Amino acid sequence: MPEQYTVDPSNNISGTISVPGDKSISHRSLILLSISSGEAKISGLLESDDCLATLKIFRTLGVSIKKNIDGSYYINGKGAYGLKEASSDLNCGNSGTSMRLLSGLMCGQKFASRLIGDRSLSSRPMKRISSPLGMMGANIKLSKNDTAPINIIPVKKLMPIEYKMPIDSAQIKSSIILASLYTKGKTNIIENVATRDHTENMINYLGGSIENTNNKITINPENKLVSRDVDIPGDISSAMFIIVGCLISEKSEVIIKNVGLNILRTGGIEILKLMGAEIEFSNLKNYGPEKVGDILVRSSKLKGIEIPRKYIASAIDEFPILFIAAASASGKTILKNAEELRYKESDRLSVMSKGLLKCNINSSLYDDGIEINGGKISGATINSYGDHRIAMAFAIAGLISKDPITILNTENVSTSFPGFFSLIKDMGLKIKRENI
Ligand code: S3P
Repeated sequence: MPEQYTVDPSNNISGTISVPGDKSISHRSLILLSISSGEAKISGLLESDDCLATLKIFRTLGVSIKKNIDGSYYINGKGAYGLKEASSDLNCGNSGTSMRLLSGLMCGQKFASRLIGDRSLSSRPMKRISSPLGMMGANIKLSKNDTAPINIIPVKKLMPIEYKMPIDSAQIKSSIILASLYTKGKTNIIENVATRDHTENMINYLGGSIENTNNKITINPENKLVSRDVDIPGDISSAMFIIVGCLISEKSEVIIKNVGLNILRTGGIEILKLMGAEIEFSNLKNYGPEKVGDILVRSSKLKGIEIPRKYIASAIDEFPILFIAAASASGKTILKNAEELRYKESDRLSVMSKGLLKCNINSSLYDDGIEINGGKISGATINSYGDHRIAMAFAIAGLISKDPITILNTENVSTSFPGFFSLIKDMGLKIKRENI
């Protein structure tokens, strides 16, 4: 049922909280433990629509995945060649990560598959994966406009390749890595800018062999994967909404426990610090191959900046909420070299700029970026275009707006952050839900 929320200004958000599990690591734990040998437990799996789409797909591929009373899951890995042909299409819903990573994995199987997605996912570019997978010898066919549905026909063998990444994308990299587990010989992937390395980390954690020397990633498919328990940290990309909410409101202090702090995911925090944010990490420790810690945030006076290019890849999902930070900061914030934002769940440059204009915040759009003039955010009704991060970003803007902000089409928030609205309500936001 279509759903919308209205947030009344309250200017305070406080508490000690935790956020749901990391989306990227949750997908990888389901994928990699399905093709490892033996049983393992996943604790902290993100039960969002995106990750549940991946989970259901592996069930249809014959993997036993059971939920325990304590909320953890047992997954019984089938080994690299133990997946079974599905009797239906593999439905990735709204999830680009499921579609792109699973395409790589499915190219290595001895059976055919067809991957489908919802309207938004079916309009997103897929040539970026079919092209390198095709170079490996895969028989992968896209639909017209180079989008899903994706048909994969089995081939006798896949070949290792050396591939220089044309786009900074962990999904493309991971898709190639998963296919390369089914080749003989080493595959090399060269990145211009390092992107999140959760696939590499988890493969090594499960006994595989991937090396990274100066952004050249070498996958040696000889070692087979062996199941091990996985603990999933809180998602920094979800934490960012709460962090920015705290920074832009008055006399607020928030602690977020156990958040994943992989350095290839903390670009958004670095950008906020350059804008003047008071953010501290504590209790740093390892969670298997990943780093976690607690984040302390206090209300801060933010100023506009020119966002350094080096942080874009490691902040790629945080721009909708960073634009809200920029809208409330003093002065101008300039982002360039971020054309990829146009190919996310919505065109995040143009959808954010339209929403900001409704809130009386002026911005100029570039092909690959945006310039935002900070000011006073006014009340508005915002179309989130079904994009979870746009909806959450404007809900947070409602904390400090002059008048209420109503956000339309909020159903997709459960794509990445189930429980978001009730959490922010508990933290002091004045928020109400309407079914329409
Ligand atoms: C992801 C990679 C990023 C990110 C997405 C999750 C992943 O996409 O935006 O939300 O889990 O690998 P790109 O690879 O398209 O940058």
